[in-house]
Amino acid sequence: MKNEKQSRGKFSSSFGFIMAATGSAVGLGNLWKFPYLSGQNGGAVFVIVYIIFALAIGVPIMLAEMSIGRKTKLNPIGAYKSLNKRFTFIGVIGVICAFVILSYYSVIGGWVIKYIVTFFSGTHISDATGFFNNFIKSPVEPVIWHIIFMAITCFIVIGGVSKGIEKSSKIMLPALFILIIVVVIRSVTLSGGLEGIKYFIIPDFSKVNSFDELSKVLLSAMGQVFFSLSLGMGALITYGSYLKKDVNLQKSSYIITALDTLVAILAGFAIMPAVFAFGFEPSAGPGLLFVTLPKVFESMPLGIIFAIVFFILVFFAAVSSSVSLLEVVTSYCIDNLKWSRKFSSIFVSLIMTFIGVFAALSFGPLGNIKIFGITIFESLTFLSDKILMPIGGLFMCIFVGYVWGIDNASEEITSGGKIKFRWKKLFSISMKYIAPAIILIIFITSFLQ
Ligand code: TRP
Repeated sequence: MKNEKQSRGKFSSSFGFIMAATGSAVGLGNLWKFPYLSGQNGGAVFVIVYIIFALAIGVPIMLAEMSIGRKTKLNPIGAYKSLNKRFTFIGVIGVICAFVILSYYSVIGGWVIKYIVTFFSGTHISDATGFFNNFIKSPVEPVIWHIIFMAITCFIVIGGVSKGIEKSSKIMLPALFILIIVVVIRSVTLSGGLEGIKYFIIPDFSKVNSFDELSKVLLSAMGQVFFSLSLGMGALITYGSYLKKDVNLQKSSYIITALDTLVAILAGFAIMPAVFAFGFEPSAGPGLLFVTLPKVFESMPLGIIFAIVFFILVFFAAVSSSVSLLEVVTSYCIDNLKWSRKFSSIFVSLIMTFIGVFAALSFGPLGNIKIFGITIFESLTFLSDKILMPIGGLFMCIFVGYVWGIDNASEEITSGGKIKFRWKKLFSISMKYIAPAIILIIFITSFLQ
């Protein structure tokens, strides 16, 4: 028992928890995916749909996850098992999902480190497209940076909940805020940047006037809400399990969602004005961060300094997220297999690194290997974002709404009746009907296409 207590940490304060959970939420999803998704899905239209989904589905699911975690004080598999054995599978989906996401997430994390090092060495990237393509196609380099990124993640998780995860987030997250504001100020003051701001805040509904387009926007926005808020796979069950009883879960969920959305929008303001000012395409897709932005920095006064600042901020965001993914599986090994934290983190990291190598190489040497017509990397992202996370989220809503019950959840959310639950009715409606219905409808229409 003593051993268990020692290895199962705790967040030292409410603030520390909020920093860690926001650190989990704010990541490549905000800085890399959100700007390019909005660029591909009609700018402001996407932003509006995203915000509606974040409030209607994101906040309630987040609350439910944190309450399951704090109630059971266990990892996702242990948590579902202890509440109702027949639903253990939801936790299993979550743990599988963590493997899938982190194995490709750390590949992109590795790219970010490569860019920092390149800019830092003073190298001018004159041909950003060529540079990027050569780099990701190489058989060795992306693998090495991916391993380095995983090693850093593992190092923080070995440090434990309060001394590793919480402490690193408390430093990285505020730093990230300052850095992104610096870049936003630079970007919006560029001449010609105004177009980018308009694109991001004034909706152009002509971009969504067919059923196909609309359903694409809805599916992307929903997937993005799950991904960006770290929902549907138990990351917040795990973080919730390290919480003290007196932490206000409702307040925490509003703050985390607000900060995460704020950073996503700031990322748009950092990127879009610059893209417009220098005449690039907002719909450049995943290359927006690694190809378009370096071009923007290249053509900007003092660009290289802003490039370094920007990629360091992306790195901070990515690491504090990858840590939460590794922690999900590590906590399972600690709780259920009774392994030590150090052994668990290293063991799990090695497996994730191994899977990630295939993802890293799927841009080059393994590019010909296709699963249902898409590369290994694309298959992994498809599997996690469009299948495992929504399914995990759907079952979680059903579980909380109909099995464990709204009253049990609300008992935990109110810390045993001590804190008022203002939105209980809305929470209940969202868990039981709105969230499952939206997830199901979008899920089915996307499969029909
Ligand atoms: N939310 C992170 C991002 O936006 C990614 C992430 C971290 C995540 N932990 C997660 C996504 C758990 C889903 C589930 O980059």
